[in-house]
Amino acid sequence: MGWSQERLEQVAQTRLGGAKLIVVANREPYIHRFRNGEVQCIRPAGGLTTALDPVMRACGGVWVAHGSGDADRQMADSAGRVRVPPDDPAYTLRRVWLSKEQEEGYYYGFANSGLWPLCHQVYARPTFDPAHWAAYKEVNEQFAAAVLEEARGGPALVFVQDYHFALLPRLLKDARPDLVVAQFWHIPWPNPELFRVCPWGKEILDGMLGNDLMSFHIQYHCNNFLETVDRTLECRIDRERFAVERNGQCTKVRPHPISVDPRLADEYLGANWFARAVRLRKELNLGQRPVLVGVDRVDYTKGIPERLEAVGRLLDTRPEWRGQFHFVQLGAPSRTDLDVYRELNERVQNMAAGINLKHGTADWQPVVVLNQHAGPEDIFVLYRMAAGCVVTSLHDGMNLVAKEFVAARGDEQGVLVLSEFTGAARELTDAVLVNPFDVQQTADALHAALTMPADEQRRRMRKMRAHVDDHNIFRWAGMLLSEVGKMVEPVPLPEPVGLDSPSDEEVGHLLARHRALDSIRLAMGVA
Ligand code: F6P
Repeated sequence: MGWSQERLEQVAQTRLGGAKLIVVANREPYIHRFRNGEVQCIRPAGGLTTALDPVMRACGGVWVAHGSGDADRQMADSAGRVRVPPDDPAYTLRRVWLSKEQEEGYYYGFANSGLWPLCHQVYARPTFDPAHWAAYKEVNEQFAAAVLEEARGGPALVFVQDYHFALLPRLLKDARPDLVVAQFWHIPWPNPELFRVCPWGKEILDGMLGNDLMSFHIQYHCNNFLETVDRTLECRIDRERFAVERNGQCTKVRPHPISVDPRLADEYLGANWFARAVRLRKELNLGQRPVLVGVDRVDYTKGIPERLEAVGRLLDTRPEWRGQFHFVQLGAPSRTDLDVYRELNERVQNMAAGINLKHGTADWQPVVVLNQHAGPEDIFVLYRMAAGCVVTSLHDGMNLVAKEFVAARGDEQGVLVLSEFTGAARELTDAVLVNPFDVQQTADALHAALTMPADEQRRRMRKMRAHVDDHNIFRWAGMLLSEVGKMVEPVPLPEPVGLDSPSDEEVGHLLARHRALDSIRLAMGVA
């Protein structure tokens, strides 16, 4: 039987057995913001929220996230809770409020200037600033308090997302040993030599080993993680069971490649996608020419300049393509408070202008850059009308754009050009695989995409669609739930905890106890 929302619902019911599901992710799935005096609800760009929202719709529970929209407070109750999706509420979003300084240090600082470049091997130097680290610790503690409040002393499975919360699992386990805690790391994990440069490596690993299950997209990242732990901490690595044993606790380490809900493609496309595609072609002056698309957050790991270089190379080396196609890059602005992201935006604009100046004519511009946020309805029209989708990440945990493109192609047409340095490349082997550092190879792949016969497109797309249909987001969540669900049993708590929310005093006490334990461990050199 294949995996569907309904099957996941059943698995969630049996595996969770009354325990509450609490997802923690920095990014919220629905952001409320003010636009022209009105409150608007948007879905953020990025794979994590796209993937997890259908899971939460199926399982229910609470999603704890940073409330980052300027209208978020207005739309939530006094505890920061709001039911979502707004038009068909299925779960609770619990917003955590962070100050500007916390966001700078924790999100822009340690998470995105430290861990992000550390884990992605794209030759970007990580920055390690003690002030960022302090903010990161503080915010992890603040989220721990919110999770404990949401768990209300009852049994719960806490499913922590990503590199923003490396310390959270340990904080939760110390405060509530009965909680089942699992974490999914959405980005790659580096090898031990690269990880060594992080000054707070031991604390990070200690935090992550608070998990009962630590999961990555692919086995290679699991291996890197086990190696890193082995070289950094006193512990026993059980290579038979793929687990770490330390201080009486066992953390299983498993690969679970994330995916999408392929059924959403039809919902987003709707009955009138073709009319919308015609309108878009007109607006962007694309005529009837074939279009290659790139859809990304503007991030230096995504290889957008490399992709544009390949477009330029194609036009340089095969002038017969002049006037014959367009490359449309939809680039959602991302992390623009950081110089490196702002500079990348500028670089992309300049490169596109350079190519257009060199090769374009009065009525034909080869490159169209849309530097804006777009909703899934528009993105799926782009996927569907394209001759090909170009994903050239220099390093990527998975890359869900690749899977979304495949899901959008119910017509079994379209070519996926895919970087071999994405997790997706291990699954979508019928894509045209490229090394994005090799400009000529990528240019040749664009040519191949524009000239591939329809029956070969069909043959490849059919296989990729069958894979995504089968290995969908419900399977990902179902496998993870099955893995940790076995551990969800209401166990006697170390001290009496009522079913009501712990008071601020209780939460403060638990966190203070954790901090005290932490300093003792550090003083003893065993952290
Ligand atoms: O994949 C890593 C990740 O941080 C995800 O958590 C998220 O989907 C995406 O990148 C977007 O990043 P941000 O939440 O910083 O906009």
